[in-house]
Amino acid sequence: MRQTTCTNNVGLLSIMAALLMTAVPSSAAEDVVVLRQADMKAMAAAAKSISGMFKDPASYKAVEFRWAADTIRDKSGVVLAGHFSIEAAGPQSKAKPNILEERDRFDRMANDLRDYAVALDAAAEKNPGPMPASMRMKPGEPMGGGPLGTHVRNEQELSEMPAEHAFHLMLQTCATCHARFRME
Ligand code: HEC
Repeated sequence: MRQTTCTNNVGLLSIMAALLMTAVPSSAAEDVVVLRQADMKAMAAAAKSISGMFKDPASYKAVEFRWAADTIRDKSGVVLAGHFSIEAAGPQSKAKPNILEERDRFDRMANDLRDYAVALDAAAEKNPGPMPASMRMKPGEPMGGGPLGTHVRNEQELSEMPAEHAFHLMLQTCATCHARFRME
């Protein structure tokens, strides 16, 4: 008798567990889509703030510039890549299904974004006062980049280029990834 009760409880528990298991993956997938879209929006706001300071250097404030760079740093790299690791993203997502097939390319762009953000943070840390000319691109300086050229060749090259140049390469990385992995 005692044993029967016990078995019944186990049966009930396993039904509940099964119900939970079917409910959890889909809502977790939706959560991650909401989260990654919010992160993308936060990065867009941060990029806009940096862009404004390059357009009007008098408005440059190192603290705000760093905060924006750090926002992008903290939402790129493995954090960004990790938000695109599930297959069934749901209808509210604009992510293309080729992300999983082209994992390496996607992850590399997520990491490039982080490298650029780290370089921007370092530039602002070095320049707490007004924005020096050394942070700006010189007139006529080739932008570099292009679909294959956004990849950071090495850390030294990155730390030597003006912050504005790194910023443009960063924006190209956003655009290149969207062109390949985001629906119109
Ligand atoms: C490694 C690839 C990749 C990079 C780099 C990247 N994005 Fe995205 N972004 C995506 C994908 C994929 C989506 C679609 C996500 C979804 O809907 O699930 C997206 C969506 C967005 C959205 C729309 C969010 C929404 O509410 O639907 C914005 C805005 C955005 N990205 C801005 C940026 C900015 C700004 C940068 C650069 C600072 C950037 N992204 C870099 C892949 C990337």
